[in-house]
Amino acid sequence: MTYEQAHKLLKKYNQLHLLVSYNDLTDEEKRELLQSIAEIDFEQAMSLTKISKEQINLGEITPVTSVTDIDFSSEEKEEIKALGRSIICNKEYAVITMAGGQGTRLGHSGPKGTFMLKLNTGDKYIFELFVENLQKAYEKYGVYINWYVMTSVANHEETVEFFENHNYFGYPKDKITFFSQGELPITDTEGNLVLESKEKVFKAADGNGGIFNAMSRHGITDKLKADGVKWVLITGVDNILVNMADEMYIGLTARSNTFNGVKAIEKTIPGEKVGVFCKRGGKPSIVEYSEMDDDMTNARADDGSLLYKDANIVNHLLSIELLEKIQNERLPIHRAHKSLNYIDRDGNFVIAKDPNLFKYECFIFDYFSMVDDVMIYRVDRNKEFAPVKNKEGADSPATATALYNALH
Ligand code: UTP
Repeated sequence: MTYEQAHKLLKKYNQLHLLVSYNDLTDEEKRELLQSIAEIDFEQAMSLTKISKEQINLGEITPVTSVTDIDFSSEEKEEIKALGRSIICNKEYAVITMAGGQGTRLGHSGPKGTFMLKLNTGDKYIFELFVENLQKAYEKYGVYINWYVMTSVANHEETVEFFENHNYFGYPKDKITFFSQGELPITDTEGNLVLESKEKVFKAADGNGGIFNAMSRHGITDKLKADGVKWVLITGVDNILVNMADEMYIGLTARSNTFNGVKAIEKTIPGEKVGVFCKRGGKPSIVEYSEMDDDMTNARADDGSLLYKDANIVNHLLSIELLEKIQNERLPIHRAHKSLNYIDRDGNFVIAKDPNLFKYECFIFDYFSMVDDVMIYRVDRNKEFAPVKNKEGADSPATATALYNALH
């Protein structure tokens, strides 16, 4: 894009302030800025504040049913596991780790997967633990499961380099694919684009719901299908106890006729600040703790357990048919008010003291609106959930390490 083209485009959308420092830039920086403007989908960008205004959740919230191991006899369990096993052994199963988040709360300077934990079994990077997980599956099933790692524009290079520098932790290189998710612009509260630095329009990763469009753009879904993959596990990078090849979960989802499954853990106390699975207007959904009043938070089922107890741990198993169906759909865009430093209209660097800009994100679970039902498998929290979210306190490296050590 030339300066003249950029000028014309920005004028059309009333965003000429992005060129405020153009004349002070070096030739290289000018190219960078023009490139960063060229990458923007202006029609979408200019409507972000409107389309994301409020996510109005329609429909009555009702409870869901989930299953756990104790709901099945040992014969049934064997049958279900055999189905899951056959899917893994026939190479009809792949795994995607979403590692495009910023990990702001953890405060680690690199991608979250490059964070090292001091475990009973030695000092290990989070990504290394996932490789161990996949190696174990190889030992059990004799199959190297194809592993896809979703990165962001901001951390792609560093992530790939990290794996190269560590020789892929011994996993076959051709079984690991990296692909980068998309970005959405950051705007001021009026919906105008802003600069992050003098040569760069401010953008950020489009949320973990960006995964489906990214899979389409990079041909991942097509490749999975061509490889004969029928089921894809999608999880976050922050749960170090994730089971990357769970034959029971795969079997349960495959025989459920729902084309998708999720794992849940039981809420420990009614007031725990987690999102729980529910139905909304008859469709699967998640109700955030902030949306639940006291009655709903404390409501009990006939057996005395909490009515809304199945907490979301960002663990989705989707059929390839479903992925094909949703990969080109646009998920709703959610908006968050954040404190972010930026360059203002006069070219001055602004240090944020309070929330000042809007960040936009899609959430993976919003694909639920495109399905009729989901198979919910409730698993043992202590065995399957040890999140690394915060620097200290709850869900921190210290708590995740303790949970891991208790098991290993
Ligand atoms: P979180 O909601 O915990 O966000 O992501 P985060 O960016 O990692 O962390 P904070 O909020 O800045 O501290 C849940 C999962 O979704 C992935 C994350 O990498 C994590 O595995 N994610 C999130 C993406 O892959 N892309 C995104 O744009 C956002």
